Amino acid sequence: MFITFEGIEGSGKTTQAQLLRDFLVNKGYRVTFTREPGWGILGRLIRRMLLEERDLELDPVAELCLFCADRAQHVKELLRPRLKAGDIVICDRFVDSTVVYQGYGRGLDIELVKKVANASTLGLKPDITLLLNLPVRIALSRIRNRESMTKFEEEPLEFHERIRQGYLFIAQKEPDRIKVINAARGVDQIREEITDIVLTRLSR
Ligand code: TYD
Repeated sequence: MFITFEGIEGSGKTTQAQLLRDFLVNKGYRVTFTREPGWGILGRLIRRMLLEERDLELDPVAELCLFCADRAQHVKELLRPRLKAGDIVICDRFVDSTVVYQGYGRGLDIELVKKVANASTLGLKPDITLLLNLPVRIALSRIRNRESMTKFEEEPLEFHERIRQGYLFIAQKEPDRIKVINAARGVDQIREEITDIVLTRLSR
């Protein structure tokens, strides 16, 4: 089973992804836990270019291609083999991030973004996507205290608002795969809802 987590910065998705991993490991499942961007040799290089190189003003098309290059390699070298071996794979961000960040966020042509993004998955689709949804102001107030901000975290409020709305829009189109989770609640409440969703799906 392939599970992805999505959401705006500060939505708490990384915390919840880790809690789900711990829960499933305790239940005896073999779990691979990973994230995008940044896996493997290529991923680490790309992550640095995308998030840390402040002097590199990336063109949005170049940015799109880099996220997608990272994904294709990730799918081929890690995700596919681990799924084939029977692991539950949990990935912090996947193709939906590209559609909303580069499409709705950067304003690139949505059809172009979808085409390139879909190609980058090599045909792999998440079984469940957990979308942590909460108001932008609350999310951003959570990350203001972080020590190192990435380029994306420094974007204006309107950028993050477009991302949030983009996520909600694509969730409406695929309600069976994308589960919208109210992330403006306590960690435990959110964790319980997520484990219920995943256990129900595992017992199908
Ligand atoms: P990261 O430090 O991993 O933060 P987060 O905890 O928010 O995932 O930063 C990844 C950033 O890259 C995040 O701001 C979203 C952005 N991103 C895209 O713009 N497109 C993509 O396809 C992916 C995977 C991430």
